[in-house]
Amino acid sequence: MTILRPAIFTIFAGFALTACQGAEAPVEQSKAAVSEPTKRIITKDDKFTYANYDEVRVTHLDLNLDVNFDAKVLDGIATIDFERVTDDADMLVLDTKDLLIKSVRIFADGKPEGVTDYTMDAADKVLGEALRIPLTDKTDQVLISYRTSPKAEGLQWLSPAQTAGKKYPYLFSQAQALNARTMAPLQDTPAVRMTYSATLRVPDPLLPLMSASQGAKDENGEHRFEMPQPIPSYLLAIAVGDIKFKPINDHIGVYAEEYILEAAAEEFSETPQMEEANTKLYGPYRWGRYDLIVLPPSFPFGGMENPRLSFLTPTLVAGDKSLTNVVAHELAHSWSGNLVTNSSWRDAWLNEGFTSYVENRVMEELYGERRAVMEQALDMEGLKRAIGEAKRPELTHLKLPEDMEHPDDAFTLVSYIKGANFLFFLEDRFGREKFDPFLKAWFNDNAFKAVTTEDFISYLHENLHKDNPDALTRAELEAWVYGPGLPETARNPESDAFNEVTRLIGTWLAGDSNGDEMLEASKKWSTHEWLHMLNSLDDFGDVGSENLAVLDETYSFTGTQNAETAFAWYMQAIKGGYEPAMADLENFLMTVGRGKFIYRLYGALKDNGKAEWADEVYAKARPGYHPIAQRRIDDILNK
Ligand code: BES
Ligand code: ZN
Repeated sequence: MTILRPAIFTIFAGFALTACQGAEAPVEQSKAAVSEPTKRIITKDDKFTYANYDEVRVTHLDLNLDVNFDAKVLDGIATIDFERVTDDADMLVLDTKDLLIKSVRIFADGKPEGVTDYTMDAADKVLGEALRIPLTDKTDQVLISYRTSPKAEGLQWLSPAQTAGKKYPYLFSQAQALNARTMAPLQDTPAVRMTYSATLRVPDPLLPLMSASQGAKDENGEHRFEMPQPIPSYLLAIAVGDIKFKPINDHIGVYAEEYILEAAAEEFSETPQMEEANTKLYGPYRWGRYDLIVLPPSFPFGGMENPRLSFLTPTLVAGDKSLTNVVAHELAHSWSGNLVTNSSWRDAWLNEGFTSYVENRVMEELYGERRAVMEQALDMEGLKRAIGEAKRPELTHLKLPEDMEHPDDAFTLVSYIKGANFLFFLEDRFGREKFDPFLKAWFNDNAFKAVTTEDFISYLHENLHKDNPDALTRAELEAWVYGPGLPETARNPESDAFNEVTRLIGTWLAGDSNGDEMLEASKKWSTHEWLHMLNSLDDFGDVGSENLAVLDETYSFTGTQNAETAFAWYMQAIKGGYEPAMADLENFLMTVGRGKFIYRLYGALKDNGKAEWADEVYAKARPGYHPIAQRRIDDILNK
């Protein structure tokens, strides 16, 4: 079934290819300002911002902040430069959330125009509060004196006891998707790009880092940062702690607390090869340095692609480089996402799907097809589950519905893996020799721009499909982008290694073998094969706690140091009612804050008659979780 959409129809009819959907729509002269050819017509399509970026756009943010660990606040001044999109713009609307605004001053040509009477809207639970600043004809800069809240969702303040070193406190941020506004007043939409600079004062001997050039301490004890490339607000990032550095090569290195620094540098030692593979496929890395920082375990994600400085969970340091695809992923965002950015979260697949695709291409380049296909197969298993669990079918479209309630709904495996698989599909249809240069050109032609799904479709048509019209039909394409679930044209990742694993576990569960064959074969298994084995238990119905006990005795899953394997095992233990794993699961939940694991573990506990136990553990673990994780788990456990 396909839905005919006028926009697509015109695209495929070969006209209206310049539809100005994106914030960076093609240059068109506005009627009112024919003499100013740089003016663009900008349509506002991000509903998760109050910013009037169709009238005024922030171009630069300067932060001058005290990092105050006692009060758990950032306190100081945000100076904002902007440009007018429409000539009659007389108001600058910024996003804020839980910020204390102390004063707003406006400037023209570097001269003060005075203190201004700004207004703030009542707080919205998701969006926060709009800060409305009236402008005179000449105003080109505003200075906002403000302070963050100790509860800011984008900032986690850790006490010394919550760090590995136990001596100093730690702070780290997480701006994506809507939390930059809890760090500073700004236009919090991926459609707007700004450069930024910052001056930070932190207590000695802590080291502050940002998603920018890392500034050395000056004679006043202040650290100065510069991000000269324009970035969307969700890539603003800060980390402060007792952090040490170890180089990997001349422009790549690792920051971490001392206890894990050596291990992390070893785990991620292949990052330079990943960068090379990426560059070979899609063109130069454009951001100067590329460093990694291993954060404390409460970091709620696997990784976050903050420019020049990807943030990573310590659970990636498994000792065998088995989980480094997350580094490949965050690095790949330096092209897909950070360079070419989704213009609203409805188009999140343009960031995450492209990145998951590139990640897999890089993994294939470094480790070969066998590992790449295993990763595709694991992802596909996850995607099918996610599609089955979707709250409504529209949330399984790549182009997400206008009435999406929260950007959280955009970061499901649909954007990631259905998105990646759409690109696998295109790759298969056009062939790598055409598709690779096409994608490289997409990144190049759209560098430092915000793009929509519709921009991609017209680009695809113009640059690839027009000359190869038989490669795919409109209906096939629409099924991927505007249709639900997994299209029938999806690639089926066939892993021989996984098929063998499935056979071995299947014959053992069926009682057709005593398990010796699996025991022997498993000596050569990688983490991926273990994960497939554990996940595939779902296909055998209720395997029962006796079988789980035998597996645990044979393979010692409980207490495993690989966080992915531990997670997959605990999911089975919860479903199968295998009690001996519970003490260890509690320990896992108390020490790991990565959302991908803990959201599903709490959900499974609740769904399998263990809600009370989950509540008890959560009551103890909650204070150590990141505010983002707290909100999500409160929701899962109906707090
Ligand atoms: N940008 C995401 C993390 C993110 C998503 C932050 C949504 C805030 C809101 C990051 O690039 C990511 O996708 N991380 C994944 C790793 C990946 C290999 C799938 C993760 O954290 O697990
Ligand atoms: Zn990502």
